[in-house]
Amino acid sequence: MARLHARIGTFRQLEILLAVHSAGSITEAANRLFLTQPTVSMQLKKLAEAVGTPLYHQLGRKLVFTEAGLEVVKSARDTIDTIERLEMKLYDLQGLKTGTLKLAVVTTAKYFIPHLLGEFLKLYPDIDIDFKVGNRQQIIDRMASGEDDFYVFSHPPKDQALELYEFLPNPLVAIVQPEHPLAGKKKIPLQTFLNQPFLMRESGSGTRHAIEKHFEQQGVKPNTRMIIESNEAIKHSVMSGLGVSVLSEHTLTFGGSSGLAKLDVQELPIMTHWYLANLSAKPLSVIARTFLDYIAATGKDSLIHELNRSSQA
Ligand code: PGA
Repeated sequence: MARLHARIGTFRQLEILLAVHSAGSITEAANRLFLTQPTVSMQLKKLAEAVGTPLYHQLGRKLVFTEAGLEVVKSARDTIDTIERLEMKLYDLQGLKTGTLKLAVVTTAKYFIPHLLGEFLKLYPDIDIDFKVGNRQQIIDRMASGEDDFYVFSHPPKDQALELYEFLPNPLVAIVQPEHPLAGKKKIPLQTFLNQPFLMRESGSGTRHAIEKHFEQQGVKPNTRMIIESNEAIKHSVMSGLGVSVLSEHTLTFGGSSGLAKLDVQELPIMTHWYLANLSAKPLSVIARTFLDYIAATGKDSLIHELNRSSQA
């Protein structure tokens, strides 16, 4: 049998393999890599020949990775991570901060994370940012690939070994149309609020997870009229009088609140917190460590300052 290192393909082939694995299809991976489909297929064929066993099977339109294929994917990820870390370390030794910071954040965090990144990039203009957004479940699913440096959640999964850094409160507040009869009332009983048609985020959403947990603890149920997959669409539906909802206050402070009123409801807001999470098993890159240090040293305070300023405006 040929020695293992002689059987593993080129670095580029490993990158292509990872792209195909995370995209789930040759076409999508080719798009992401700006390559043609035949180039991607050819490189994977060469890699499979080098490894000496098929890496995946095509079942209809679906790619199913073989056990050997999954092992190669895992090692490819470790290899690329190691090389990237080495690259960043070498730049760091030369006093240069350059490389890519990979963030995957839940939809609600997309309102404020860019404000943190603006300041960070002024300090480190040579750092590139890879910024992915999904609901809580989609971000949890991304963790399996171990690609990202940090995840931003207010409800990190409990069954993953994660390092958590809490950096910001996240109040979930009740909202209505300003013309609604409840607008402006004080200490509205929770049940009165919940008698209104409720607009709920989709299943898999962290906001929904927090709302359901809180209402369950209070022994109440919302009167759900619509399931809506986006904070912005919920805001617009509330503005147009379709119902009431509960959303992170950051969707209003950073995303605009005109046409909406916050309600003073008993047992609300739901108080949660934002966490920066990284996989315990994946060592932080130089860039990731720099970002974490930046948040702890100044980013967190300047964000809180900006939040206070926007909520008073
Ligand atoms: P979501 O997550 O965007 O999936 O609702 C928000 C959160 O985790 O609080």
